[in-house]
Amino acid sequence: MSKSHRDLKIVVIGAGASGVACATKLLEYGFQNVLIVEAESRLGGRIHTIPFGENVIDLGAQWCHGEQDNIVYQLASQKDLLESTGPVYENYQCVRSNREVLPDNVANRLKAIVGDSLVSRQMELQHCSGSLGSYLTNKFYEMLRRPENADIDKVLANEFFDNYQKFENSVEASDSLEEVSGRGYLDYWECEGDILLNWKDKGFVELLRLLTRSRELETSSDLGVLEQRVLFNRAVKKILWNRNDSRVELQLSNGECCLADHVIVTVSLGVLKEQHLQMFDPQLPVAKQRAIQGLAFGTVNKIFVEFPEAFWPEDWTGFTLLWREEDLGDIRNTSRAWLEDVFGFYRVSYQPRVLAGWIINASGRHMESLDRNEVLAGCMYLFRRFLHWHIPDPVSFCTSAWYTNPNFRGSYSFRSMDTERLGTGAQDLAQPLTVVAMTPQSPARSRSRSRSLPQQSRCDRPIVQFAGEASSPHYYSTVHGAVEAGWREADRLADFYSLNDATAKSQL
Ligand SMILES: Cc1cc2nc3c(=O)[nH]c(=O)nc-3n(C[C@H](O)[C@H](O)[C@H](O)COP(=O)(O)OP(=O)(O)OC[C@H]3O[C@@H](n4cnc5c(N)ncnc54)[C@H](O)[C@@H]3O)c2cc1C
Ligand SMILES: *[C@@H]1O[C@H](CO)[C@@H](O)[C@H](O)[C@H]1NC(C)=O
Ligand SMILES: *[C@@H]1O[C@H](CO)[C@@H](O)[C@H](O)[C@H]1NC(C)=O
Ligand SMILES: *[C@@H]1O[C@H](CO)[C@@H](O)[C@H](O)[C@H]1NC(C)=O
Repeated sequence: MSKSHRDLKIVVIGAGASGVACATKLLEYGFQNVLIVEAESRLGGRIHTIPFGENVIDLGAQWCHGEQDNIVYQLASQKDLLESTGPVYENYQCVRSNREVLPDNVANRLKAIVGDSLVSRQMELQHCSGSLGSYLTNKFYEMLRRPENADIDKVLANEFFDNYQKFENSVEASDSLEEVSGRGYLDYWECEGDILLNWKDKGFVELLRLLTRSRELETSSDLGVLEQRVLFNRAVKKILWNRNDSRVELQLSNGECCLADHVIVTVSLGVLKEQHLQMFDPQLPVAKQRAIQGLAFGTVNKIFVEFPEAFWPEDWTGFTLLWREEDLGDIRNTSRAWLEDVFGFYRVSYQPRVLAGWIINASGRHMESLDRNEVLAGCMYLFRRFLHWHIPDPVSFCTSAWYTNPNFRGSYSFRSMDTERLGTGAQDLAQPLTVVAMTPQSPARSRSRSRSLPQQSRCDRPIVQFAGEASSPHYYSTVHGAVEAGWREADRLADFYSLNDATAKSQL
């Protein structure tokens, strides 16, 4: 290894939260030849803030989930950028398909039943060998059979639970809770503190400004310290990782080639699932392929509707849609069947005239293929069918489409029954591809050992590394998980070249 670590060419694939965090950390460590290759024309990936209504909306990540041990919270809270969203997702109204609003006392008891099971979940799932779905179903109906709940109307309870399962699917990005591993659910660690912190009038894009420091720079360019270091609109098509010079060759969508000493892959698990067989040459090791296959990746989409004025009372935070069995015939087996999987519409912070809906399951993917006017007409049908107010025509409308986009192929990862069956996990996804090499000489080492040179020994040199949300063992499906994974891989390289934080600071 004759090169200084400063000259090593490091290519990060993907400019989402993980790639941006990784690249900026590498620069802090003093690596200077760092390049990000990004298929889209923008920074952020599944962070995508766009202007809408009176302000901005987030088509992807929207909230910082928790405070304790949350890297995003740590970055943002020093600057007072986050704010509690309040009980929007607790105080919603439950409305039936005949416009009947569940009385507060009934709704609150049903909410309490699913809320209670949330607490006991952590304990009980440890001993669960089945799916999250079977666990939650048993739990719900067991609670309902208790004498104190004997007066709750069973039909209402069923409608409520059908809706609740859709909500829970949106948390997991699963199509059905039967797919979700009960025990795997516990892999996810919820950070203590407020789990619904919003970015005020800025949107989640503000995090990218923090990471790239474009927020602090006088001549504030959007890319900050990444200026001139991102190649946009270039997809990596092939990663050739067994060249005999132990460099990695990347073939890009525009026909260009690029050689790197180290490559860090941050593309979504959805992209890996679809492309890894064509992308990696040679094929990935078996354990890695098993992780890509076994970890699950699903789709959740959002629907934003802007109205000319708020038609709801000030203290109203939104509603969930409870379909009566006899009303479902009105949409099932029609072109509007997909509307069954829109489970609720909620208020949005800093957007007084906007409601945000959520859609899951195959219907959520189907919606992406529909004509925009058809989607809007479907949503207006829901508003007018469920709510008893006069609903004005909307002034604008926007939906996300995470599945159709080949650069994402879905929303986020979860632990499925397959994950458990294959005995795989985030660690297998995070494991780098290595070549046998001699230990590198760090600046510090070569100085202190200059007299007794050949002190090198054989070691595994990481040449292709993996970051991204899905590679986080406990914070997958979040931005803080993605950022932490990006830093983890930057640290791995710094460790390999024996750079420490002091080196990083002195080279800032
Ligand atoms: C609807 C939705 C809501 C969410 N809500 C929240 C939330 O409230 N809070 C939260 O913490 N998290 C939330 N998340 C999850 C969060 O957005 C992700 O976990 C995180 O942003 C993932 O970052 P990443 O860098 O791992 O991946 P990505 O953001 O997917 O970055 C990967 C990048 O790689 C690029 N790419 C793909 N293929 C190639 C290729 N071949 N060559 C070059 N580049 C390529 C992509 O364009 C992308 O920019 C949400 C996600 C979605 C979709
Ligand atoms: C998802 O869709 C499938 C097929 O349409 C359906 O059987 C299933 O009940 C749906 N799941 C949920 C949670 O709605
Ligand atoms: C690998 O080594 C052979 C023989 O030394 C050489 O001809 C070839 O060009 C090398 N290939 C690469 C990709 O470096
Ligand atoms: C409705 O059901 C019939 C028969 O069951 C089927 O042929 C038809 O395609 C369905 N239509 C829609 C819109 O799903």
